[in-house]
Amino acid sequence: MSKPKYIMMNGELVPFDDAKIHVLAPAVTYAMTVFEGIRAYWTEEKQELYLFRLDEHLLRLRQSVKAMRFDADLSVETMRNQIIELIRANGHRENIHLRVMALVEGSPSVSSVGPVSLVITAGAYPSTKWVDSGMNVQVSSWQRVGDTTNPPRIKATANYSNGRFAMLQAQQDGYDSAIMLTRDGKVAETPVATVLLVRRGEIVAPGVTEGILESITRDTIIQLAHEGLDMKVVERPVDRTELYAADEVFACGSGWEVTPIATIDRIPVGIAAPGPITRRLRELYMDEVHGRGGARHPEWLTPVWQAKS
Ligand SMILES: Cc1ncc(COP(=O)(O)O)c(C=O)c1O
Repeated sequence: MSKPKYIMMNGELVPFDDAKIHVLAPAVTYAMTVFEGIRAYWTEEKQELYLFRLDEHLLRLRQSVKAMRFDADLSVETMRNQIIELIRANGHRENIHLRVMALVEGSPSVSSVGPVSLVITAGAYPSTKWVDSGMNVQVSSWQRVGDTTNPPRIKATANYSNGRFAMLQAQQDGYDSAIMLTRDGKVAETPVATVLLVRRGEIVAPGVTEGILESITRDTIIQLAHEGLDMKVVERPVDRTELYAADEVFACGSGWEVTPIATIDRIPVGIAAPGPITRRLRELYMDEVHGRGGARHPEWLTPVWQAKS
């Protein structure tokens, strides 16, 4: 992320270098932070920056805050207004990525629930470098956390040390990233994105109880596959060897958008990446986030520059 002018902290625009919290804050000492990663896309023809599925992200943040028992009631409207104010203050007229964090400050106790600070950052952000080549991934020996350990449904920073083990191992072993399995050996997700595959003419996605974050991009792809390709996405447990048998495998998430996977454990995925369905879904997705072409869901876009303040 490039260095923007401001970061929003509790409704105040703070210069980038001054945005600090105390070293003993529970957010630091016990990873007491939940967050959202959100993208906004610049559309040249409309001279507008669109936040993609903003309210869904903010509602998920509220769910994370609730499940973590943080003492905060963050309204979607307040967060939305602060996000728009920050982007305007930074003057972003480019593709950006935002991080919206609810973090616990105050004394360092593992059972602290507040005070909670709302911190928002925004900065320029490109697409992944694997859009054309596809990624080479490893099925990790690190097991995905589960609902009875660190629930992946909650987007907590603490969950990312699990993904980090897998990611660093994969990179050390010469791969781009990793796919983690659940305790039962079913496909969960990558450290930062969900996984879908195409097999026998069907798009298959591990279900929402298979150690995954309930991804907003995954939900978007399920809808676009139905509306744009007339294909139903089957949500079910997925075996590791189905990854080897698949015609196409791709990862999706706000950060990675729709990114093809070329090899898994050095085994080439059926059709050279990106396969035709992955390519088509990426096109549909990119049209939707920019509000261009045959985009079907204007309700998914929050304009920044024309938005009423
Ligand atoms: C672990 C994990 N899974 C899945 C996703 C995808 O979620 P979303 O599509 O809501 O961004 C993310 C974030 O992008 C993530 O960090």
